[in-house]
Amino acid sequence: MTPVIFHTATTLNGFLADDADSLDWLFATPGADEAESDFSTFLETVGVLVMGSTTYNWVVEHEDLLSHPDRWTDIYGDRPTWVFTSRDLPRIEGADVRFVQGEVAPHWAGIRDAAGDRAVWIVGGGDLAGQFADADLLTEIRVSIAPATLPSGRPLLPRRIGPDRLRLEGMTRAGQFAELRYSVRPA
Ligand SMILES: NC(=O)c1ccc[n+]([C@@H]2O[C@H](COP(=O)([O-])OP(=O)(O)OC[C@H]3O[C@@H](n4cnc5c(N)ncnc54)[C@H](OP(=O)(O)O)[C@@H]3O)[C@@H](O)[C@H]2O)c1
Repeated sequence: MTPVIFHTATTLNGFLADDADSLDWLFATPGADEAESDFSTFLETVGVLVMGSTTYNWVVEHEDLLSHPDRWTDIYGDRPTWVFTSRDLPRIEGADVRFVQGEVAPHWAGIRDAAGDRAVWIVGGGDLAGQFADADLLTEIRVSIAPATLPSGRPLLPRRIGPDRLRLEGMTRAGQFAELRYSVRPA
């Protein structure tokens, strides 16, 4: 079975970003360097990336990818990336980015085949991870919890998923981050 892992940093109260899509709270957290080396190890296990359009646009702008398209490969390698969007988004020269829309299920065979024997990384956001959970495809949630809270923002996982489906499999510390790993059972 192909692992489908929603791996993200989050505030203590369950936000991926603030209302303006800022990650200032994340970059201000000590220990980001240790989290970074863990990220490289994780990325080696990943064959395909999946993200929504807000996340994609954030990466494009944050890394100035339209002017420096090589930075995409520096970060993600040559991994195929599925971006869910109903819009016509800018393309990054040289990056294998596939824009799709609608339900997750019709795209699953293509995603799974591209991942081969490696994992699918759901980069974000939370609702897209929820769509994979709805389709019974999400197998793992890995959250790095930062010591920060926000009054509102982009939600971590706006779904009702109970302890009958989630099981805590591990906990580690990286600087000021607590990483929790949960397996997800089908509904
Ligand atoms: N803390 C972290 O480590 C971390 C990790 C990942 C992301 N983030 C941040 O968290 C925020 C997440 O943003 P978000 O909550 O808006 O989520 P998102 O998944 O990045 O973007 C949501 C948008 O994607 C499109 N979309 C999603 N599912 C779709 C589907 N099935 N078919 C067609 N289009 C679909 C829709 O926009 P359109 O159809 O209009 O394009 C939707 O409004 C971003 O600011 C991101 O940078 C943080």
